[in-house]
Amino acid sequence: MSAFSAQDFNAKRYSSVRPTYPDSFYKVLSDYHRGPRELVVDVGCGPGIATFQLSEQLDSFQRVIGTDLSPTMVEGARSIQKQNPQRHSRVSFEQSPGESFKFLESKTDKQKCDMITAVECVHWFDFSKFQEAVADTLRPGGTLAIWGYGDFFFPDYPLLTAEIDHLSYADDKLGPYWQQPGRRIACEMLKDLHYDPKWFQDIEEVYFYENDLEGKGPNDIPLFMYQRLTLAQLKEYIKSWSGYHSWKKDNPSAEKDITDAFVDRAIELYPQLNENSELQITWRTFWMFARRRY
Ligand SMILES: C[S@@+](CC[C@H](N)C(=O)[O-])C[C@H]1O[C@@H](n2cnc3c(N)ncnc32)[C@H](O)[C@@H]1O
Repeated sequence: MSAFSAQDFNAKRYSSVRPTYPDSFYKVLSDYHRGPRELVVDVGCGPGIATFQLSEQLDSFQRVIGTDLSPTMVEGARSIQKQNPQRHSRVSFEQSPGESFKFLESKTDKQKCDMITAVECVHWFDFSKFQEAVADTLRPGGTLAIWGYGDFFFPDYPLLTAEIDHLSYADDKLGPYWQQPGRRIACEMLKDLHYDPKWFQDIEEVYFYENDLEGKGPNDIPLFMYQRLTLAQLKEYIKSWSGYHSWKKDNPSAEKDITDAFVDRAIELYPQLNENSELQITWRTFWMFARRRY
């Protein structure tokens, strides 16, 4: 079972610290899409980060359904929705595996779905089953959009990029605590997964790495994801990782929390920093768009 499904996984904390996706990206997605805009399904929606953004940024869509395997996540998404029911009136959530759209059968005819999105979650899926289910559910010409992010880097503090990689993957840190192969596929940004041309056409695959920043500004990169966080907030973000959740279970009374050790090291490397210093973190990102063949 994924740590995201564990009952003690904190979906609200997850939602409050996770990165969101820039408006500029939704414009690219909207421009790509052709034809009717009745229904979009956002699979692996977690607490609804992209689901709520889709309903606001692609407001020409009449209905947005978010689905997730984890009841904890679905419950978290519904409780966020309840805080502002009017604003999110076109959104609903279902508990469902991303590789199945059975929940639609009672609500809409097969192949009536105009867009399916899968954001930062496909690394957990059975990709062949997912593509087959999408091909069965999207109307001809409808859009399949997968996007997400890999690891982040510190553009202004390069030594910290090596430190966060060490914390994430070293054998004596979080390395053994990730569920595999999901984590590896995620940090490689699905580079070995490709749409099957038997079902999909007009395929776009776009990747952004730190080298692509050279000579460009953030506005030149539609899926430019960054956050300014204090070191204290960065600790909270690391604590939202499933790998941290598993590490904590295994080390309930560790002398020093692994995130405190990271901050100590950051201050050792850059003595001008303290817990309240704000740093920019920037993610490597990607997107994969395609249309269902006619
Ligand atoms: C990293 S979160 C991403 C959440 C959200 N899409 C976002 O962009 O923040 C991955 C989500 O995938 C869900 N998940 C994992 N395996 C799944 C599966 N087979 N079907 C549906 N959801 C799944 C997890 O429960 C989790 O909520």
